Amino acid sequence: MKRIKVNLDKQSSLSHEIYIGHNILDRMGLVIAKSNLAHRYSVITDSNVSALYGEEILGVLKEVNVKADLIEFPAGEASKNMETVLAIVRELINRGIDRSSALIALGGGVTGDITGFIASIYMRSIPCIQVPTTLLAQVDSSIGGKTGIDLPEGKNLLGAFSQPQSIFIDLRFLETLPDNEFINGLSEVIKYGIIDDVDLFTLLEEKSDAIRCRDPHILQAIVERSCKIKKAFVEIDEKDVGLRRILNFGHTIGHAIEAASGYTISHGNAVSAGMIASARISEKMKHLSSEDRGRIQQLVRAVGLADHIPASISTEGIIAKTRTDKKKEGDSIHFVLLKKIGMPFINGSVEEALIRETIEELKK
Ligand SMILES: NC(=O)c1ccc[n+]([C@@H]2O[C@H](COP(=O)([O-])OP(=O)(O)OC[C@H]3O[C@@H](n4cnc5c(N)ncnc54)[C@H](O)[C@@H]3O)[C@@H](O)[C@H]2O)c1
Repeated sequence: MKRIKVNLDKQSSLSHEIYIGHNILDRMGLVIAKSNLAHRYSVITDSNVSALYGEEILGVLKEVNVKADLIEFPAGEASKNMETVLAIVRELINRGIDRSSALIALGGGVTGDITGFIASIYMRSIPCIQVPTTLLAQVDSSIGGKTGIDLPEGKNLLGAFSQPQSIFIDLRFLETLPDNEFINGLSEVIKYGIIDDVDLFTLLEEKSDAIRCRDPHILQAIVERSCKIKKAFVEIDEKDVGLRRILNFGHTIGHAIEAASGYTISHGNAVSAGMIASARISEKMKHLSSEDRGRIQQLVRAVGLADHIPASISTEGIIAKTRTDKKKEGDSIHFVLLKKIGMPFINGSVEEALIRETIEELKK
């Protein structure tokens, strides 16, 4: 089991460890037992993950005399709302969970975001351990302390920055992940290669077949590398006011595609098309070589992600959604562009006509 330290120097009590390995639940139990973090734990999980791993995690904790129970909610983004928060909170109160207790988020990004949010507000905050079970949660959402829920007005509108106590990444969970969810998470891994690590990008190019077959050695390498990249951005910019925005590469257009499709397109496919759009815009603005743009497009295709935007999604709808993002940021839209693979920069002024032209090209 490897350890990566997330150093949040300003408040050292927020610093924590990410543990990564295959089949590490037994060791996780021992670490939790030794930590004396809480008198008892509530594992929060969704209905799918509960059926697969609920009993196992309770067994692991029982084995080391850690008192724990489990609360489940219906799987899916539709549950990431205030109703679910209140239902879980009431259950915690009924079961006598108090300030000497802690939560364990067992699941994907939805579970992690909901559980982290509850932990940040329950009895004015209790500790939370993240145990991510999707590739997206392992390389992205469990790290960085962003928690929250959706409102009818938009995604992730209510939430808090609240760092986990520790993160346990067991790669074995990925064995049961449906193909579409696995590929979804690969878009974030590719993003890390593009924005920070040309060696990771090259590894993904060379091993795309092994990755799609979920070769455990390659998975360990790419998950570990991705966690190190994400944690480095978080260490520098914990509250997402500066450098961490680089992590939005492909997401400005990606989120707009997702929203304009009424969320019928998966996050991964929207982000992959968004990354290609950003690479094309970089090329058109003479920042990026056509060779690097071609490599990005090729890798996206090789892992089975979308390299185009469905013609049925309105271009004006996508543009309108990027403008919503623009409002949030004030007058300028922070677009992450590329000088080359591994070298991103933030550009405040991309002309709408160029975005429109690029979206149209990706629909052909
Ligand atoms: N906090 C952050 O920094 C951050 C970053 C990125 C995304 N997010 C959020 O993450 C969410 C998406 O996360 P997600 O893609 O993990 O979705 P998810 O949590 O809904 O999980 C996807 C599906 O996979 C199932 N599943 C999970 N683990 C499994 C396993 N090991 N085997 C079989 N099935 C399994 C789940 O039940 C669900 O049906 C979004 O709400 C997004 O806003 C948060």
